Amino acid sequence: MSTLITNLAELMTQDRDHRVLKNAAVVIEGERIAWLGQAVDAPAADQSVDAGGRALLPGWVDSHTHLIFAGDRTAEFEARMAGESYSAGGIAVTTDATRSTGDFDLTRLALGRVAEAVSQGTTYLETKTGYGLDIDNEARSARIASTVVDEVTYLGAHLVPAGMDAGEYTDLVCGAMLAAVRPFVRWADVFCERGAFDEDQSRCVLQACRDAGLGLRVHGNQLGEGPGVNLAVEFGAASVDHVNYLSAADVDALAASWSGWDSDAGTGRGTVATCLPACDLSTRQPLAPGRELLDAGVQLALASNCNPGTSYTSSMAFCVTTAVLQMGLSVHEAVRAATYGGALALGRESGTDVDGERAVGSIAVGHRADLHLLNAPSASHLAYRPGMPLTHAVWRAGARAR
Ligand code: NIG
Repeated sequence: MSTLITNLAELMTQDRDHRVLKNAAVVIEGERIAWLGQAVDAPAADQSVDAGGRALLPGWVDSHTHLIFAGDRTAEFEARMAGESYSAGGIAVTTDATRSTGDFDLTRLALGRVAEAVSQGTTYLETKTGYGLDIDNEARSARIASTVVDEVTYLGAHLVPAGMDAGEYTDLVCGAMLAAVRPFVRWADVFCERGAFDEDQSRCVLQACRDAGLGLRVHGNQLGEGPGVNLAVEFGAASVDHVNYLSAADVDALAASWSGWDSDAGTGRGTVATCLPACDLSTRQPLAPGRELLDAGVQLALASNCNPGTSYTSSMAFCVTTAVLQMGLSVHEAVRAATYGGALALGRESGTDVDGERAVGSIAVGHRADLHLLNAPSASHLAYRPGMPLTHAVWRAGARAR
């Protein structure tokens, strides 16, 4: 079955050539993009959708979320808005609530969050474990996550549970817990921050997870300067996420990690800096220096960081709007970071990369047909009309999802 989407005022491809087409059309065949170009040249298809002069983008790729949780932290949020600062300790509150929730309800909650994200234009999602923090609950979180999202990251190293010795817990994360989650995950992460895991502990986690064949990412430099960025680059992590407090050396290290990148061949890939603007606002931290990172030559992703503590939103549009209005990115740069950038952070930007899966995060022939039709004539409206419900239609792997 093929579908022609025509009468597009703007088609922002976010492809290799950064093309933005006017008066364009796209043809979907099954789950893939079969054709794109000027509407007047479009081939016939089994069915046709008149986009009515709207703008089409790739679906959002949300490369950093924590969707497997139960419970609520409104009180903590209110305290923060009254002047308290964020600390990693709140993770324990969510861990208690998550542990005491059964599989059925935990899955239902996660599916509801995925549905919310998809209805706002997100078509490819990562999520992490990290609210289990013991062998059974981390394995359970990983198993549930693998049934509801596209990519799963093991974050046993989120917080040392109360009453446990940090060294003993790190050994567990690197040993029996890793073995228990391994069948369900493709990535591993560590919260490398004061109050969570220090440099040596983070190094142990990254080493063990790399040895187990997992791709790596790091929560780094969220609450202050620290070793997170350097560790991420040293270990060749796919991304380092948060990046609020960066030294000049951190920016240089991230930029240097991309110096040998051949985007056509997909070789020499560096460490993506993932900015999480909704989290920065909700924790009243300085916004990550996205403009500076881009200018230095670092590849950037934007992600929602949807979680109950620091960022209870899955709105990628909100992140894009904030990146434009507050971080100094152009609309094209912000949309790229929220689509292609997320795909790069997940190693899914090129068609032949992993497991024979189709590329996501850009509109090109052969890529997965993940499309987001805005109720607006151009992507600029995402920043020009902040907070407005601009998602008109969504296709996920070629299927209409909204
Ligand atoms: O990415 N920083 C660590 N982890 C989450 C927050 C987790 C929580 O507070 O529940 C984050 O912001």
